[in-house]
Amino acid sequence: MAIRGAVYVNGTIMPAAEAVVPVYDHGFLYGEGIYEVVRTYNGVIFLYDYHTRRLRQSAQYINLDVPFDDDTLLKWIEETRAAAGEMKDAYIRILLTRGIGETSYDPAATPTPSLVIIVKPIENPPERVDREGIKICTVSILRNHPQSVNPIIKSNNLLNNALAMQQALRKGGEEALLYNYRGELAECSQSNFFIVRNSVALTPRREAGLLEGITRGFLFDVADDVGIDMRRETLFPEDLETADEAFITSTTREISPVVRIDDRVIGNGTPGPTTLKLLDGYRQRAHSMTLASRLA
Ligand code: PDD
Repeated sequence: MAIRGAVYVNGTIMPAAEAVVPVYDHGFLYGEGIYEVVRTYNGVIFLYDYHTRRLRQSAQYINLDVPFDDDTLLKWIEETRAAAGEMKDAYIRILLTRGIGETSYDPAATPTPSLVIIVKPIENPPERVDREGIKICTVSILRNHPQSVNPIIKSNNLLNNALAMQQALRKGGEEALLYNYRGELAECSQSNFFIVRNSVALTPRREAGLLEGITRGFLFDVADDVGIDMRRETLFPEDLETADEAFITSTTREISPVVRIDDRVIGNGTPGPTTLKLLDGYRQRAHSMTLASRLA
């Protein structure tokens, strides 16, 4: 497999195919670490401040120091981007782990966190996604209990999410929809979930146990601007039966219309007007905000 892009590992930038981390890194040994995925539009990193704020919050939840400020991190990201070469828009994954140390859960074993920055060309959702929408599948794997690995943490420990996605893929879905331990809808394996009913967009509340997506948060502002009523609500499996539309949101998938959930057709089986209005509003803002900051 040809791996494209460049990777920063603890101060050294190398071609992606050559980038390695020591096996005694507790990110590798124990999945002890946190991450962020950011992307560029027009060559400019989108919503950087929101992502670094969440990175710091995730780190705090696992008692991990973030031994650099946002400007220094940005400098390292830009150096890695320069090494990665020309690309239209970039996918940037920032990982911070407990660091390298003896096999022990005692944080004293790992005094220095490890920082990895992966930069590669972003793969935008294929054009058919906007036009036709996607199928997602409910799965038997539950979203983590908040008193286990709290979903609010953007954790590198993604086994639960990967297992959920495996189930969805086996059922022909492009994303997995997870319930929480109370049987309410929570979110997807790599994205947040919304339904639209009577033109109102509804998404599970933070209390459902989910990662508060940056795209989800930003979409509340977009909804305000384009005149769509958007609310956080407790959603149950029955709500899927009465949804006129559904969509998922994430940094990489933007707003992807959902037209099938398992064997259920949502609405008339094509992307709905509220979803498309939000998608259009989102893209317009992403482009105008990044263009404006490029010109500034
Ligand atoms: N995933 N929920 C989960 C579990 C996620 O992993 C993600 C993002 C989101 C959406 O968050 P945001 O809008 O901030 O991207 C929700 C990233 C993109 C990933 O794992 O690649």
